[in-house]
Amino acid sequence: MLDPDEIRKDFPILERTINGRKIVYFDNAASTQKPIQVIEAMEEFMKKHYANVHRGLHTLSQEASQKYEESHEIVAKFINAYSWREVIFVSNTTEAINAIAYGWGLWNLKEGDEIIVTIMDHHSNMLPWRLIAQLKGARVKYVDINNEGYLKYEELEEKISNKTKIVAFPVASNVLGTINEARKIARLAHEVGAIVVADGAQSVPHVPTNVRELEVDFLAFSGHKMLGPTGIGVLWGREDVLEEMKPFKVGGDTIKDVTLDSIVWHDLPWRFEAGTPNIVEAVGLAEAVKYLSRIGMENIRNHEVELVAYTLKRFEELGEELEYYGPRNPHHKTGVIAFNVKDLNHHTTGASLDLFGIAVRTGMHCAHPLHYRLGLKGTVRASYYLYNTFEEIDYFIESLEKIIMLKEKFTREIPTSICTGT
Ligand SMILES: Cc1ncc(COP(=O)(O)O)c(C=O)c1O
Repeated sequence: MLDPDEIRKDFPILERTINGRKIVYFDNAASTQKPIQVIEAMEEFMKKHYANVHRGLHTLSQEASQKYEESHEIVAKFINAYSWREVIFVSNTTEAINAIAYGWGLWNLKEGDEIIVTIMDHHSNMLPWRLIAQLKGARVKYVDINNEGYLKYEELEEKISNKTKIVAFPVASNVLGTINEARKIARLAHEVGAIVVADGAQSVPHVPTNVRELEVDFLAFSGHKMLGPTGIGVLWGREDVLEEMKPFKVGGDTIKDVTLDSIVWHDLPWRFEAGTPNIVEAVGLAEAVKYLSRIGMENIRNHEVELVAYTLKRFEELGEELEYYGPRNPHHKTGVIAFNVKDLNHHTTGASLDLFGIAVRTGMHCAHPLHYRLGLKGTVRASYYLYNTFEEIDYFIESLEKIIMLKEKFTREIPTSICTGT
């Protein structure tokens, strides 16, 4: 079992107070906090081993290159990749998906082809496909959700055809929390020879991930959502599919040789890591992965299931004053809960919670089509991680009760600059 009180000691920021209250950080789906081990590993690397990678014979460059390569191996092991060469460091999930769209889609799609995405996809796994479809004369089709917030698999089966070349979906939704059946989707797509792009931004940090069991061709995720720093993300791809893909960014480090007439591309993964990479951040991500592995992904998953189950039970006390969206069964979702307080704008609820020191996200969470589908202008999203506690949830519920009781008084003026609604 996991002990959040012990874990919290590793996170200096959780000692902070906000508006005179101890911070309750429930915005983990947006980005997570960093343990001291990650902060120190990056500092130590910069103090003692820093140099550019793959460019120097000198000791520091060798040390930095070794650390950077080791980071690929650590991540590969974490997701049970077949080889560390399948792990490509990019800056985030968004860049990983764009790399597939422009590295695979641009070269393989043709007029009349179809791309299937889901209505619950984050814009990062929807807009690249829409743009590439426009460019290539292909068509994007959407798979809907049912009233409980699950994907309509029967609709996917209907829409998939020999025209389908790409099927893209989130392993877990960043709004509903729904954990989708990746293997089922992958098998349906593979039956028609389509490639499968899984957005793991909300799953890899929270549920044990084994790319061999997922059976997808690509998996994208971000370091900053899993205790690592910003600026580093992962594009995992099956080696044979990566071998077929073109680099979408080219330049230094992507080649073995260049003449004026020819290019010999580098081996995997270097072919896809153009220019000086985010070296320090890669070291930070590796340390984050070590941290998560020490705690155990199964333990983290179980902890989040319990936190969600407890929250949903306590939500019942708020009756009709509160509406939440997505699966009711905590085993079918991650620690993400999107909700609204009756008659209160989502931004007002979020800003009011901030008065209590509670950090949540408000808006449409880069999932506008999903919100429109649900008939909502926005939601408040509480999202948990390994350092969150049942006491924090009690305090969250008490704070919501106060906000509900004093609705008008809590309607604080919100600067329009932060009300982007995204
Ligand atoms: C499901 C999902 N996909 C993609 C992204 C984009 O991640 P990033 O901003 O790190 O590229 C997010 C971020 O919230 C997400 O939740």
